[in-house]
Amino acid sequence: MLQSLLCLLPLLGSLQSAELPAYDTLRERIMDTERLATVGGTIWLSQDEEKANSILMNAKRAEIAEGFKNPLKYAPAMHFFQGRQYVHQSEVFRIIQRMPKGAFLHGHNTGMVSSKWIIQNLTTSSNLYTCMDVNQLLIFTYDQSKCHSEIQNVCTERNDLNEKDRMKYERQLERHINMHRKHPEMMLPNRTLIWKQFENIFTTVDKLYKYRPTYCAYHKRLLEELCEDNIIYAEIRASLSPLYDETNRTYNTLEVANELERIVEEFKAKHSDFVGLKVIYAKRNRASEDEMAKRIVTFKQLHNAKPNFIIGFDLIGNEDTGDPIHKYINELSDLPSTAHYFFHAGETNWYGRTDWNMMDAILLNTKRIGHGFALPKHPQLWSTIKKRHIAIEVNPISNQVLGLVWDLRNHPASFMIAENFPIIISSDDPGVWGAKGLSYDFYYAFMALAPAEADLRFLKQLALNSIKYATLTSDERRKINRVFQKKWLEFIASVIRN
Ligand SMILES: *[C@@H]1O[C@H](CO)[C@@H](O)[C@H](O)[C@H]1NC(C)=O
Ligand SMILES: *[C@@H]1O[C@H](CO)[C@@H](O)[C@H](O)[C@H]1NC(C)=O
Ligand SMILES: *[C@@H]1O[C@H](CO)[C@@H](O)[C@H](O)[C@H]1NC(C)=O
Ligand SMILES: [Zn+2]
Repeated sequence: MLQSLLCLLPLLGSLQSAELPAYDTLRERIMDTERLATVGGTIWLSQDEEKANSILMNAKRAEIAEGFKNPLKYAPAMHFFQGRQYVHQSEVFRIIQRMPKGAFLHGHNTGMVSSKWIIQNLTTSSNLYTCMDVNQLLIFTYDQSKCHSEIQNVCTERNDLNEKDRMKYERQLERHINMHRKHPEMMLPNRTLIWKQFENIFTTVDKLYKYRPTYCAYHKRLLEELCEDNIIYAEIRASLSPLYDETNRTYNTLEVANELERIVEEFKAKHSDFVGLKVIYAKRNRASEDEMAKRIVTFKQLHNAKPNFIIGFDLIGNEDTGDPIHKYINELSDLPSTAHYFFHAGETNWYGRTDWNMMDAILLNTKRIGHGFALPKHPQLWSTIKKRHIAIEVNPISNQVLGLVWDLRNHPASFMIAENFPIIISSDDPGVWGAKGLSYDFYYAFMALAPAEADLRFLKQLALNSIKYATLTSDERRKINRVFQKKWLEFIASVIRN
């Protein structure tokens, strides 16, 4: 860490010597040194990549210049809900959408598919109802067991409406499964409220997704949305809760894993460039020690049955109100040697409390850290993270929507970028806030988190990092490298062409 600073010292010291380099030369040298030290700083670009890079950078510099003049319409400085409309006008964003982004490494299956698609495509079966549950929260359901109000058949409601009212009805339904609000600043002071709204979404869809036909359609769509955003591989957090089907048969956790694996294999058969999807078994971060011990037993059974599909374990939920990882040291201390932890840790604004989860994650030998938002506050962890190549999964828009940071130019990952930490960019639950795949988060990383002059090297390094820190067999690694290489060349050619 100190290295970059030390190498500047002789340079600054030379100010006193007889032959001073010109002041401007010194400035250049300092800036060059910083540039080389950032994520992607030392990547070499081919001639074609240089051409594409200058097209990209012309667009980026123009957007920044415009934003400097008119900051109120500069998406990277705005909340995503207010800036999204401007993102859609961005040339940089269009280029990023076309770019192969490698692997998707931090997301939760039930939050990944676009809410609009869910309303349009998963709420059309004739036996689906809405009602209010015991907390007066709207839920989708196929039976009345959880209803504490009148039930309404979604099909009947929808079919009775004309085209315009139907769209209005669907937008109203969508509001229950999307965080979007016109004035996110009103929510910001109360993170408890934001988390409540966030968790309510998963309650609203809980019964919907537990119906096997819906579950299958949902996950097919999840894979399609990844492909549409030029992602070729994913590792997703999932709880694999039991499903039921039209004959009232229930599917236990292992059977759910079977279903999901089958869906992935069918998808791969149709999309030869798609390398795969694997599962990190993820459970809530509030439980007794006994409960946690049981989960680890379940995880071991799953992992034994499918070591290359159920690859690891994680705990999820609001860290500030959940139990600390430290509570479960005994339960978590023995994991099969082929499995990994991928802990959420440091997703907090606290300093010296919840953020110690990062230390426990590292002591438990986590392979990656979800968020690590509080990492810049903990110098004792930095060298370990670099030495052991523990990737930090940065989710910019998620951190903003869930109220950790307003202006993403103040996101702590800027420090990690400047210091070339092993980071990857991901999107957590893009479907519940109107993002899709990785492009929106890559855009914010490129425009808000990284330096103004960060270029194609930065974006390429993010994609390469995602592959580097993925959990792949050597065969899979060969394939992903080959596919990525091919898609990258196509991407560069397409940028140069128009
Ligand atoms: C989803 O619904 C839209 C609108 O009804 C339709 O155009 C589209 O084909 C559907 N997609 C799938 C995969 O069913
Ligand atoms: C914050 O939100 C929680 C959850 O909805 C609520 O119980 C609490 O009263 C809110 N606090 C304030 C000060 O509004
Ligand atoms: C499924 O279970 C529900 C409630 O237990 C029952 O009303 C329904 O008739 C059952 N359906 C079938 C096909 O067995
Ligand atoms: Zn997450």
